[in-house]
This record gives sequence, structure tokens and C-alpha cells, in this order.
Amino acid sequence: MRVYRAKDYKDMSRKAANIISAQIILKPNSVLGLATGSTPIGTYSQLVDWYKKGDLDFSEVTSVNLDEYKGLPGTNEQSYYYFMHQHLFDQVNIQERHTHLPNGMEPDSKKECERYEELIRSLGGVDLQLLGMGHNGHIGFNEPGQAFETGTHCVDLQESTIEANKRFFASSADVPRQAYTMGIKTIMQAKKILVVVSGEDKAEIVKKAFFGPVIPGVPASILQMHNDVILVGDEAALSLI
Ligand code: F6R
Repeated sequence: MRVYRAKDYKDMSRKAANIISAQIILKPNSVLGLATGSTPIGTYSQLVDWYKKGDLDFSEVTSVNLDEYKGLPGTNEQSYYYFMHQHLFDQVNIQERHTHLPNGMEPDSKKECERYEELIRSLGGVDLQLLGMGHNGHIGFNEPGQAFETGTHCVDLQESTIEANKRFFASSADVPRQAYTMGIKTIMQAKKILVVVSGEDKAEIVKKAFFGPVIPGVPASILQMHNDVILVGDEAALSLI
């Protein structure tokens, strides 16, 4: 694993964007695995800036996102489809037909998960997977305790996640109860993995995930077994390592 220490969030975003940008320049038809959440927003914004300056071309890039809420249409502002269009897809020249997320509106979980796994396979796998990490070490919606060998699957969201997301919805009844997510196995099949972490509140889990034992109780700890992982974090998030 390579660790890049950044001064602050902006520097972390620029370093992460640099790695993604290098990937696209070296292989213009790269398959990028993308994440939502607050951490990668600055990375996307930096990529958009470079695109607008003419330094980056997404015309041949394909993307597959990690996860999506089940039951939310893309028009819902809380859907990951909406997020990705807002922060990246609508601001660069990636082709809409080259962008993929699990279809939250497909009620048949088995069918949707098989379709998504097959899609990733048919694209030849993910060249570079961008990941954020939750405070409990979750990656995608893979919460602690799940088996490492799962592919794309439908998860029941934990009560704490529903509680945390409540503020974004009119009422807690509107918060989705399930989500589709790439599994740990799917994530581990990516050729290269880029993890972004920011803030003091992530310091403890960064230490556990990358320097503690590899256990299902800390899903991100499995990344220690991948042979091409880059961790980019700001001083605060890397303060304990
Ligand atoms: C996002 C995702 C999540 C986030 C994680 C960290 O697609 O799958 O695992 O990466 O919850 O979120 P932030 O970046 O908001 O701390």
C-alpha cells in the first residue's frame, strides 16, 4: 500500500484527482469505480476544473458506481444517481451511456445484482476503484460483520444508518431501508484501489483498517490483502499512522 499525506482536504482532493487523472491519461477508456459521500466531492470538483481547462477528456471513460439506495428514482436528490450527475457526470464529457449505477428502481434484487455483476464483468472489470470509508470501516454499503466473499447484493440498512440519513428526508419513513452495493469481493477485484479519507474523526478507523487485523468486523481491513492500494488522506485522518 502507498500512503499519500496531504496537508488538508483540498490537498487530499487534488492528490486523489491527480491519480484518477493519470489513470485516464494512461488509459483513456478506463473503467472507473466511483463512490459518493462527502469525502470525494472535492476530488470530483478538481477533476471538473481540469476538464474545463482542457486537461482531461472523459469521452472514452466508463464508470460503475459502488452503490445506490433501493427504491429511490434518479430524480430524487438523495439518490446516488442524482449525486453523480450533480458532482461529475453533468459537468464533464463522459457519455451518459457509459455511466452505470445499480438501478434502485429494480424491485427484483436477485435480478439487479446479477445484472450489475455481469455488467462489470462484461466491461473487463474495474481499472481504478475510488473508495471512501465509514467510521465503522464500511466500504460501499458493506457493514461490519458481512462475509468478505460477497458480490453485488442488496443490504438492509442498519438502524444507525437510517437514523443518520433521516435529516436528508422529509421524515424517517421516507428513508430507504435497503440499498444495492458492490460486495467486498467485487471491490477486491478492481485492479487498483484509491481510498480517500479526511478529518480527525476518521483517524481511529484508518489505523484499525490499515494496520489492525484483517477481520469482517472492519470491512475495509480486507484492503490490506489487495496488491495495489493507494491511501490518500489529510494530516488529521492520518494522524495516528
Ligand atoms: C459511498 C459509499 C460509502 C462512503 C462512506 C464514507 O458511495 O459507499 O461507503 O464512502 O460512507 O462517507 P463519507 O465520505 O461521507 O465520510
